[in-house]
Amino acid sequence: MSTDRLAALRACWHPVAYADVITAPHATTLLGEPLVLWRDARGAVHAFRDVCVHRGTALSLGRVDGNEIVCAYHGWRYGADGACTAIPQLAEPTRVPARARAVVYAVCERYGIVWVALAEPAWPIPDVPELENAAWRVVRTGPFAWACDASRQVENFTDFGHFAFVHPGLLGDPAQPVVALHLPYTIVEHIDWGGHDGLVYLFASQPVADDRCIGYCLVARNYNLEQPDHVIQAFERTIFGQDQRVVESQRPDCVPFDLAAELHLTFDAVAVAYRRAMRVNGFG
Ligand code: FES
Ligand SMILES: [Fe+2]
Repeated sequence: MSTDRLAALRACWHPVAYADVITAPHATTLLGEPLVLWRDARGAVHAFRDVCVHRGTALSLGRVDGNEIVCAYHGWRYGADGACTAIPQLAEPTRVPARARAVVYAVCERYGIVWVALAEPAWPIPDVPELENAAWRVVRTGPFAWACDASRQVENFTDFGHFAFVHPGLLGDPAQPVVALHLPYTIVEHIDWGGHDGLVYLFASQPVADDRCIGYCLVARNYNLEQPDHVIQAFERTIFGQDQRVVESQRPDCVPFDLAAELHLTFDAVAVAYRRAMRVNGFG
């Protein structure tokens, strides 16, 4: 990936986990950067580079003690601001050199997803009021780990022309979907069934590396509220499984943002807009 593209992507919020899985130090990767996510005693989530400054051990192998994460190798302790607070091997364990710090990244929790930005984020996380409205039932599906660039996974989500071929009998023509793309890898889709009933999808892809991504898909509805979550989760597992083999086969791994590189039909309008916007904003 070019340095410019990487710099642009680092300055964005990306999903890195569903919030409820962070019960112990949790390792993941964002844009090739190893991350550890952990919660302090108050429940606040933190994101550090998953590397202990002492000998490079993964902090995710360690444990949380109160408001500190403790390295598994020699027990160095780090507070929420990344500063090392104690080195057990020192005669005076609290006289810690100032250079002993973990690299700390911006992190926030929204919609039951943990989001991380590796540099000052240029845009906010999109507002989706339905996902924070108690009258709507929100189902977390996935996550869906695929062997492709996040751009391919996102574009697949905007592609309605493949439904009859990849998902025969499962997905029909969506009724007037309204698709909002939030660069680089988040999509919000509203489907209005007429009248009061509505369905909202938030799909966000974690760019793990050039050829790997993880999709988080929230499905919210304001009708049929008693239906247990596993029904939609199983349905989406089937749909995403059907898409995965097709998308992982696409070459190149990353969407070609140069419009001349592939052919486009009228129904590809959303994809074309996506490619253009990605390019204009330095992500392509
Ligand atoms: S490698 Fe982490 S404390 Fe030594
Ligand atoms: Fe699909």
